[in-house]
Amino acid sequence: MDKFIIEGPTPLIGTIPVSGSKNAAMPLMAAALLANSPTTLNLIPRLKDIYTFKKVIEETGTSVNFNEDANSMVLDPANLNNTEAPYELVRRMRASFYMLGALIGNAGEAKVSLPGGCAWGPRPVDLHLKGFEEMGINIELDQGYVYASIKNSTVEGGDFTLNPSSVGATINLVLGAVKRAEKFIIRNAAKEPDVVLLCKMLAEMGADIEGIGTDTLTIRKVDELKGIEYSNDPDRIETGTFMIAAAMHPESDLTLTGCRPEQLGKFPDSFKKLGVDFKIDGTEIRIKSTANLQPVSVTTKIYPGFPTDLQAQWATLMTQANGTSVVTDTVYFDRFSYVPELNRLGGKLRVEKNKVTIQGKTILSGASVMSTDLRASVSLVMAAMVAKGKSEILRIYHLDRGYEQLEKKLNDVGASIQRVPQ
Ligand code: UD1
Repeated sequence: MDKFIIEGPTPLIGTIPVSGSKNAAMPLMAAALLANSPTTLNLIPRLKDIYTFKKVIEETGTSVNFNEDANSMVLDPANLNNTEAPYELVRRMRASFYMLGALIGNAGEAKVSLPGGCAWGPRPVDLHLKGFEEMGINIELDQGYVYASIKNSTVEGGDFTLNPSSVGATINLVLGAVKRAEKFIIRNAAKEPDVVLLCKMLAEMGADIEGIGTDTLTIRKVDELKGIEYSNDPDRIETGTFMIAAAMHPESDLTLTGCRPEQLGKFPDSFKKLGVDFKIDGTEIRIKSTANLQPVSVTTKIYPGFPTDLQAQWATLMTQANGTSVVTDTVYFDRFSYVPELNRLGGKLRVEKNKVTIQGKTILSGASVMSTDLRASVSLVMAAMVAKGKSEILRIYHLDRGYEQLEKKLNDVGASIQRVPQ
């Protein structure tokens, strides 16, 4: 296991290229299992979660060739002969549960481990399972595994409302329905860019999906889907993370390249209120920070609202603002494990239910802190980059799950981050 040693404070000055999206890449990889020929995916980031999902897919007999230098991956399900996704792999990463939809689509049957809990409380999959049952798929649970099967090769389908709207359930149900359900309607479907990208890819492969980009998806089965070459989106959460990291130091002047700013939803509206100099020019975003950062309270919502995946980073930024602010998470109520660690660095944050109140203008100083999950970890890195002196961030394996070459990218623009064995 590794840790980071970070010396601060350092402004971020220069250019960072944004990597491919982690959360969008995995549904695209799952979709490749539905094709009758190989699929090539571009802009696939080299991340631990991607390698884990690659392994889950390879378990089935599907071949996966990852050309890491080119961030390009070829998947061929021609020899798929195993329809199980085992606990050892699924427990490492929840998105492995997409194998349920992908295997139902490919083989009409699946045995997939239930994903279990998570660092920020229970994250259920009840909607995934209810949706498949509504579709006509036979679902049974036994000893921590979900067994899915269908009597004939197709099912009638149905009409299912997601409450609450769920990214993962929408993706799983779409994957399961496109080759199996006569007609399946998903209402209150997630509209996150990751879902839209998957649906567009499936449509290009030959799927019949109506309502892409809206909250009602109507899917009618097709017999065959063909493999295609398709490009992943840049990571909007990585984009937002670096925007926030830049705003944290008054002398930062950071340009992000290869972005899709239109996929940031309402996030830029909150960002503008900070008072930083912020410009979008095509696929580039430039942030020049300010010594007079305004406190901006935010509430997370489903897309296009403020993303829960940027909640911890925003609360961290607010420690440097000129006043008090409140960050409320309405998507996950218990995602504040970073708060005690941030307070160890000198932050003054107080959690009450699903709200955190942050006192601004606090002087952070170096300390040893512990990563608890992916977004919490990157928030600690951001805090350490503006804290005075040396910080140690332990258990950084969380970061390797979701940020490609994080320390290289940050060191290239002026940070001082060293990776050493823990
Ligand atoms: C995805 C993202 C995660 C992000 C989240 C919300 C991936 C791999 N992960 O997670 O980074 O934080 O979207 O944007 O893409 N729910 C249920 N029952 C279910 C499923 C979900 O009650 O069966 C609830 C959850 O508890 C949560 C809400 O629905 O309160 C939204 O969760 P969901 O959109 O499903 O999140 P994930 O797809 O797991």
